[in-house]
Amino acid sequence: MKNFKKEKTLIIIKPDGIQRSLIGEIIKRYERSGLKLIALKMLVPDKNLTQKHYLIDPQWKQKTGQNTINAYRSHNETPPFSDPTKMGNFILDKLVKYFTCSPVIVMAWQGMHAVEIVRKITGGTEPKSSDMGTIRGDFTIDSYAIADTDKRAVRNLVHASGSPEEAEAEIKLWFKPSEILNYRLLNEEILYDVNLDGILE
Ligand code: CMP
Repeated sequence: MKNFKKEKTLIIIKPDGIQRSLIGEIIKRYERSGLKLIALKMLVPDKNLTQKHYLIDPQWKQKTGQNTINAYRSHNETPPFSDPTKMGNFILDKLVKYFTCSPVIVMAWQGMHAVEIVRKITGGTEPKSSDMGTIRGDFTIDSYAIADTDKRAVRNLVHASGSPEEAEAEIKLWFKPSEILNYRLLNEEILYDVNLDGILE
């Protein structure tokens, strides 16, 4: 069985998260889950890094384009493109402008089911329909329709890896091995230990 307890994921606080002074609020939500922060840096990404990040998954344009088209149709709206790859190209172009306009914060987090837990805390991609209680549901108001009409990326505060495999590739892209820290967090005793002995004196 895979070692879920050491699963890693990548989170990026996007330019709107920085510009809206939500850095602390966003990190707090991941931190209090019990996951462990193992790498963090602030930088202004360039076009090349942004494109590499989103194109790690060779199917990204197709999948993101199709998801967007489906979201439009589920609201009885007409997408700007009916071809998923064209839709994906349009989105990637806007993402480059978005990612290169301000610093971002990139982090790697580790722990039990890190990818799924972080996706749950983050909420669905389109803020209009992200659940309340999630970062995107609580702090953003954007939609695909308005973003696409305004020809810009959806401002949804954070990026979170979609799968453990994607996380591994994304972490490799953003961090050198020496920037990822191995350390023990005292919280891990209560989160992972099988025998809760040694607590009572
Ligand atoms: P993220 O989770 O980083 O994955 C892809 C990003 O593309 C997404 O968050 C949004 O910021 C952006 N995005 C997705 N769909 C659209 C769309 N239809 N229009 C504009 N931006 C989009």
